[in-house]
Amino acid sequence: MKTMITGVRPTGKITLANYIGGIKKFIEQQKDYNSLIFIADIHGLTTYIDPNEIRNNILDITALYLACGIDLSHTLIFQQSDVLEHCNLGFLMSFQCSVGELSRMTQYKSKKAELSKKDKDMGLFIYPALMAADILLYDASIVPVGADQRQHIEKTRDLGERFNKIYGKTFELPEYQIPKIGSKIMNLQNPSVKMSKSAPKDDKGTIFMLDDIEITKKKIMSACTDSEGKIYFDEDNKPGISNLLSIIAVIDDLSIEDVSKKYKDYTYNDFKTEVADKVIDFILKIQNEFYKYRNNEEYLKKILKDGADKARNLANKKMEEVKKIIGLKL
Ligand code: TRP
Repeated sequence: MKTMITGVRPTGKITLANYIGGIKKFIEQQKDYNSLIFIADIHGLTTYIDPNEIRNNILDITALYLACGIDLSHTLIFQQSDVLEHCNLGFLMSFQCSVGELSRMTQYKSKKAELSKKDKDMGLFIYPALMAADILLYDASIVPVGADQRQHIEKTRDLGERFNKIYGKTFELPEYQIPKIGSKIMNLQNPSVKMSKSAPKDDKGTIFMLDDIEITKKKIMSACTDSEGKIYFDEDNKPGISNLLSIIAVIDDLSIEDVSKKYKDYTYNDFKTEVADKVIDFILKIQNEFYKYRNNEEYLKKILKDGADKARNLANKKMEEVKKIIGLKL
């Protein structure tokens, strides 16, 4: 059976876009693969995050994933920092990188510009090497991610391939899997930028999975649209309406064509009401489950520990193989 892996940084609050872009696909396929999902807490530290906040986020994310339908009989869930092999291999993978190529990565360039006084840029710089290690360590074939992570997966393939060329076939080269609809759920207020979990906590254009649903309803009802008054899909000229169509398509598991047809005669207000009702219905179900898990921290910690123990076994085997191949094993 092939392996599927994905990671999520415990920074910011999980948004509807995160759900649509990554979690949903992962859950749907978890039984078809050896599935691993981890909390990329070391990646999270590439920019300063308050220690209490990171602790809280790790537990939130774990509970949220369980609430979304992670099936523990098929999927390992664990913290990256609990499996030190990620760091070991990450360090070695950084030796496969040139300074020039890392400094040209899109994320490095854009995030470097936003660093706070508490940050230096080295963590961001070597981010791709650690991410490559996360994936190569488990010989994963498939990595469900949002569209913004494409370059990182391509770099992972490059680094794995370089290593394989030098030392002989060691790593499986992964493919990214980016959802067709909704890989780019946009900000409701400014549909030319993505809905991002690094948005301010009170951002009116971002739907956070754990927000009070009344707030979510208001955000959807005040989503930016256009003055044409007709509902159809056209990302360039009608980004606001197209974004709402994408959201509803994913939630109802319909194609863009189907939802466009269904809502073509609605007024904007009726359409938004329908989107809001559906989103709220969907989020409420997840929230109910979430609180059951989140109120039981001991259980969450145990799940993460069990996951890490099993992942460490796999990672350790691979790391021993790598050490042997590169000549460190006597
Ligand atoms: N960089 C990813 C993100 O910001 C998180 C991540 C870290 C990841 N390591 C990974 C995703 C390995 C997939 C596989 O969303």
